[in-house]
This record gives sequence, structure tokens and C-alpha cells, in this order.
Amino acid sequence: MAEKPFFITTPIYYINSVPHVGHAYTQIAADARARFERLRGKKVYFLTGTDENAIKVARVAQEQGRDPLEFCDELAASFRAVWDALNISYDDFNRTTEARHRIPVQRVVQKLWDDGHLELGTYSGWYSVPDETFFREEDTVEIDGAHYIKNPSEDQSKAPLEWIEETSHFFKLSTFQDALLATYDQNPEMLRPETRRNETLSFIRMGLRDTSISRVQDWGIPLPAGVPEHENHVVYVWFPDALLNYATAPGYLSENPETAQHFEQIWPPDLQLMSKDIFTKFHATMWPALLKSLDLELPRELFAHGFWTVNGRKISKRDPETIIEPIAFSRKISEISGADFPIAVDALRYYCLREVTFGVDGDFSPQGCVARYNSDLANGLGNLLQRTLVMLQKPDYFHGVVPASQGRDFGLQSDLPRLAQSVEQDYAALNFSGALNTIWEVIGRANKLIEDEKPWAKVKAGRVDEIADLLRELLSTCQWAAVTTSPAMPTAGAAIWRVLGRVESMTWQSALDTEFVAGHRCLTVQPLFPRADLAKMEDGAAKFTTKEKPMNSNPPTENSTLQAPAQPQAQEPKEANFITIDDFAKVELRTGKVVEAERVPKADKLLRLQVDLGSETRQILAGIAQHYSPDEMIGCIVVIVANLAPRTLRGYESQGMLLAASNDEGVLSLVTTSAEIAPGAPVR
Ligand code: MSP
Repeated sequence: MAEKPFFITTPIYYINSVPHVGHAYTQIAADARARFERLRGKKVYFLTGTDENAIKVARVAQEQGRDPLEFCDELAASFRAVWDALNISYDDFNRTTEARHRIPVQRVVQKLWDDGHLELGTYSGWYSVPDETFFREEDTVEIDGAHYIKNPSEDQSKAPLEWIEETSHFFKLSTFQDALLATYDQNPEMLRPETRRNETLSFIRMGLRDTSISRVQDWGIPLPAGVPEHENHVVYVWFPDALLNYATAPGYLSENPETAQHFEQIWPPDLQLMSKDIFTKFHATMWPALLKSLDLELPRELFAHGFWTVNGRKISKRDPETIIEPIAFSRKISEISGADFPIAVDALRYYCLREVTFGVDGDFSPQGCVARYNSDLANGLGNLLQRTLVMLQKPDYFHGVVPASQGRDFGLQSDLPRLAQSVEQDYAALNFSGALNTIWEVIGRANKLIEDEKPWAKVKAGRVDEIADLLRELLSTCQWAAVTTSPAMPTAGAAIWRVLGRVESMTWQSALDTEFVAGHRCLTVQPLFPRADLAKMEDGAAKFTTKEKPMNSNPPTENSTLQAPAQPQAQEPKEANFITIDDFAKVELRTGKVVEAERVPKADKLLRLQVDLGSETRQILAGIAQHYSPDEMIGCIVVIVANLAPRTLRGYESQGMLLAASNDEGVLSLVTTSAEIAPGAPVR
């Protein structure tokens, strides 16, 4: 049987707020772990999504005169757009208004009823719509005949509560108390960190009360018809609706056999991440009890991370200055540094993961983020890469060709496998800040080695051979850093990998096998992390918020010159435009290796390439000069259309065409092969 993929989840987010850095944090952490597992060769199923059945969503849609479902479509799309911009590599995005979720939820409720886990009762209490929570009488105060939350926390509503009294269906949570305690006793590693585990154990020991799973409402998943008193009732948005998304997405109770089989293969989740406020009661008590009632295996690990404040203030819609939208913020970093937008995104990701220990609270400071960008990325990693590659390329050094070893040992490269292991353990334990700490210790050591060895003095004295091994160790360190940082900073990691001339897929093993063969060529590089102007980073978070009507997304500003992602737009259904396999077979695609490259005089965009196809060398003119330098192209494996009729451009014959991908932001990337393959190989 195939190996079980690593199944990782984030909470599904309420769509009635714009995604801010707090939401982004869980996504970034989950993404780092997912990417790390993929690097280690694991198949990953990374699930995220949106929680759409909350009554407040329907109410706001109504206020705005909108159709609630259409409204949800738009908001869910804006969440996806932000995650895509942040390079979150989710494999599945579950929306609780989708049929693949709604139908199994109804089946679950029916099953719970049939199996005797539900009973009818009366539910009464004070309900806060903005908080989607009931309050006991003693937790409210009465003022002028209206009830309010007693001592509301900063993010709780101060609006009058609604009295709700209705027939409801109760899940017999109390019957699972002992079983849960026994499970946690036998599996101490299931709940992390330790503080949350202890909190959960005392919560359960205090006694569990049966919990209502239905509400009289007109927005949500209707109770199934086989349950008595189902009329007018919908499933409570938290339980089991939202929690069940973790099971419905991979295919629980699906009628499609393939999807149902997917569920069998995937279940249970290996890691479920969320913040501490929704851990104890919802994820560590109700969710596992529900799974037990359905005879489903429990997740292997539930981890609660801490809460972010912004400049010391709690993130809250009622305090707009605390809402930092990740795209607007990354755009600002890009603007004040000149870094590409995806690199600015990496800077945000790095800051979040490095700044605080995963599991404890943190304070987000825009200026703190820029300070880290300058010290760790521009001066640290960026500087190391730049110095190393310049040393390699310069004519009085090594002309771009990795020199042979002269047998000297600077003690850095030999340490890398051990340090890779330590970083690996940290990533596996969700100790992101620990992993990044170790990586930056290595980067610091490498930069110091350059300063101590003063290679420029040796070159000046004509003793270039003496620095051959230093350069080799620095290149190895850059490769090691590309691999180890890539879970946190995927764009930077891949960019470093590419300039080091690596064409094969990166794996974790590439941090252990860092040896460069003599004669290997690297590419030239522009500074990856240009220094940012700290003075231009205002510390008021409102600068990173789009001041639009609430519950809307974050379109990039018109005048932005940066590579910010476009917002998703409703797509017209397209007519299928298929070709047959015979049509495709007419196109002869082949691999080639670029052996010579030069600019075409008076043509800004053109490079003239000589491409080795194994049996012949072709001249190809490619419009890539604004994206690739001639030096960078030498040695590259490209994919060409080999049977294109020749044509003449600027007086040169072009005998084929290079394949490249480009996007609306003007990024162009050549199509290559993931492993070095003989020139001339057919591409099918
Ligand atoms: N919809 C529920 C979750 C259902 S999961 C079955 C919900 N949604 S939420 O949008 O309010 O928040 C979800 C998650 O966003 C939190 O658990 C946390 O992962 C993240 N965060 C939101 N604000 C945050 C901070 N200020 N700090 C850290 N994480 C934050 O609750």
C-alpha cells in the first residue's frame, strides 16, 4: 500500500474579516512545515479553507443587499488570493458552503442521531452574534433592560445580547470525558505545547457538559430530515460543522469511491495547527470526542501557537490600526528596499517565524521586521551569497568556474551535515525560530571567515590558489543555506539554488551533499535582498490596510510599480478548446544545453544563443535579455521547439524557440528539466 501522505491542517478562517498577519502566521507556519516534509521526500496533503456558515456572514450580506452565497464566493476568493501571494502551498481549500462539505456533515449528524450520541433538549441563553457564542446568565450584565457581556475582553462585542430559547439537539460530550483523559494519558505527545496540554487536562477534569449542535437559523447547513425536530434547524457553525471540515475535505463519507478511498489513505491528520484560543475546548476536547463517536482515529498532534499583537495592541477589527494586511505590508517592504515582491513576502515569512518561539505570544512591529530584513537578510544571507559569487566570477579570481580543492580545510563545510541535522530536528519539532537561529549562526560564521581570511589580499598578492578551498566551502554553505531556509523562504531558497547552477530538484539531502565538482559553473546574481530604508517604514499599521468597506479584499493599488499579485476575477466559463494527441505530436520538443550566449546589438530584449542538441548545435534568438544575462544562460538546460520553421531576426537566423513561463507581473522563467538530461532528449 502507498505510504500515507503527511496530512497537515490550519483552521478555516471566518470570511467576515480581511486576512491579517495573525491569520497569515498560521498559514506561514503550516506552509513551512509542509515544504519541509516535501523536501524530505514525503507526499503532503496540506488543507486550509474558509468557515462560511456563521450567521454574521449572512447578516452582513443582507445589510449590503447581497446574495450571501455570492458574497461568500467573493470573500473566499480574496482569502485564497492572499495565501497565493504569500506562497502558501496548500493542496486543498475547503469551503463550508460547498456540497462536498455540507452533504457529509448532514450524514454525520444523522449517524450521530442513529448511533445514540444525540438527544433532544431545550437550549436557552444569551447569544452574541458578533462572537458567535452563548453566554451564561452569570456572565452577562443587565443595563436598562438589555443584557451585555460582563467585562468583555477587547475583542468581544459590546452590543446587546440576544435571548435565545429553542429546541436543540445535544451531543453527549460528557460520555467521552474518561475516554479522552485515558487517550491523553497514553499519548502525551498529542497535545502541544505542554502548557496547552495541562490546560486541556484540567478543563476536561472539571467535567464536560453535553453540548448543543443545532440552532434555529436560516443560514447554515440544515439538519438532516431523519433527525426529529429538524425543521428550521441548522448545524451549529462550530460543532460539528466547522470542525468536520478536516474530515470532509479529504473525502469522509463521500459517495464517490475515489474520494472515499482518498480519505482512507490520508486519515488521520498528522498535525493540526491553530492559535491557543480555539485549542482547549474546540480542538482538544470537542473535536476528539466527535471523532471517537464516529470511530475515527484521532489526530497525531494538535499544536496551539501564541497570539500576535501589533505594536503591543491586540489585533482587532475595532482597532483598524492593528490590522496589517500581508500583501499591503509586503508591497511596502518591496517599495522601500527594491526587492522583488516575492522576496518581500519571504521577508515577512522569515520575520514571523524567526521573531518568536512557536507556541508563545509575539508582538509584530513593522519597523522590527525591516530591521531584521536589513540585518539578517541584506547583511547576512544576501551579503554572503553576493560575496561568494562575485569571488567566483571575477576574472582575477576564478572566471566563474569552481576551482579544484587544494586540500585546505576551513572547518565550515565539514560541520554542515551535523548542523543540517539539528535544523531538521527543529523543523520537525515546529521550532522554527530555533532552526533559523542555527542557520543564521552558520551564515554569520561564513561571513566572518571571509573577513578573517581576507581573500582579496591573497588575490592581490597573486596567491589565488590559497582561497580555492575557502570559496568551495562558501559555495557549499550557500547551497546548505538555500536548502535549509527554503521551507521558511521558498522564493529566496529557490533563487539561490538556481544561481548556484543547480538544475536538479532540491531535496533535504542537498543540504548534506554540498560538494561542488571542479569545473561547475554558477550564474551571476543581482542582490537578492537590497537594503531597505528603515526611515520609510511607518510604524502605524493602518498604512498596511486597505481602507475599504469592511469585509472586503485587498486589491493592489493602481500606482504600484511592484510585482504584486492581481486580485482574482470572476471568470467567464470558457468553451473547451481541446487538441488531439496527434495535434500535439506535431510539435517536436527537445532539451538543449546553452553553450554560448551573447546580446544582440541594438536589441534590448534579444539574446543570441548557441544551443547544443546532442547531434547538432542550433542558433536560437530568444527574447529573454531583460530577464537573463548571457553568463547566466551558459550551461542552462532549456526546452526548445525544434521543428519550428526558421526565421530571421535582426539579421540572424533563429532555428527554433525556447519555452518560458511568464506572468502578468512581468516575471519570466525558463522551462528546464528537474535533472540534468542529455541534450537533444525528446520532451513529451
Ligand atoms: N473559524 C474559526 C476556526 C474554525 S477551525 C475548525 C476561527 N476563525 S478565525 O478566523 O477567527 O481565526 C482562525 C485562526 O486565525 C486562529 O486560530 C489563528 O490560527 C489565526 N489567528 C487569528 N488572529 C490571530 C492572532 N492575532 N495571532 C495569531 N493567530 C491568529 O476561529
